Amino acid sequence: MFKVAIDGPGGAGKSTISKAAAKQKGFVYIDTGAMYRAAALFCMRQGIDIQNNPERAAAAVDTISIDIDYQQDGQHIYLNGEDVSEQIRTPEVSMGASEVSAIGKVRERLVAFQQELAASKNVIMDGRDIGTKVLPDAQVKIFLTASAEVRAKRRYDELVAKGDDVSFHEVLKDIEKRDRNDETRAVSPLKPAEDSVLLDTSALSFAESLQAVVDIIDKKL
Ligand code: C5P
Repeated sequence: MFKVAIDGPGGAGKSTISKAAAKQKGFVYIDTGAMYRAAALFCMRQGIDIQNNPERAAAAVDTISIDIDYQQDGQHIYLNGEDVSEQIRTPEVSMGASEVSAIGKVRERLVAFQQELAASKNVIMDGRDIGTKVLPDAQVKIFLTASAEVRAKRRYDELVAKGDDVSFHEVLKDIEKRDRNDETRAVSPLKPAEDSVLLDTSALSFAESLQAVVDIIDKKL
């Protein structure tokens, strides 16, 4: 099986690029951030203060079922049977996901699930720890990044297009806070795998970033 691991900070374009690259290569795209988001959504609906009560959050995540369905328009994610693909894309859930993903027990459960999903398929999987932890044997590892300002601008444009009432400053602050959380947490902090290719998309268009990723994959295929 051929495995491509794409890691990097939030808003670097990982999911859109990975999805498009997977389509081109006929691989299955797996978005692991969506799983942390679904776990966070569940805790938030239960009224759990994730940061101050990590044990309760971990126990809650232990009870949920997460299912992934691969459809024409991309991955759909189900939390206890409910399609939450849309509900997980809010700034509140983004922050909750960053908090819930710092809990070791939550990571253990979701990493095992991700490894199971990837076992029998050619995949492009994106996240924060795919090259370092989930698929350490991946044939291709890419660390996709961009400056915080560029990432915030992309996220801001996305949210505004959806009709969300947000300010650029708020989005940038959120991105910087999530970067800090992801880079400084004790378990699986965000960092490039030693054998990863670093790709900075700050000055690249979407088409150029996609081409760069496909070129890296093609060299190893
Ligand atoms: O990629 P996305 O923004 O959807 O991820 C949401 C959050 O989930 C990230 O900020 C990160 O804290 C966490 N995450 C993680 N490990 C992954 C994927 C996501 O810790 N493999």
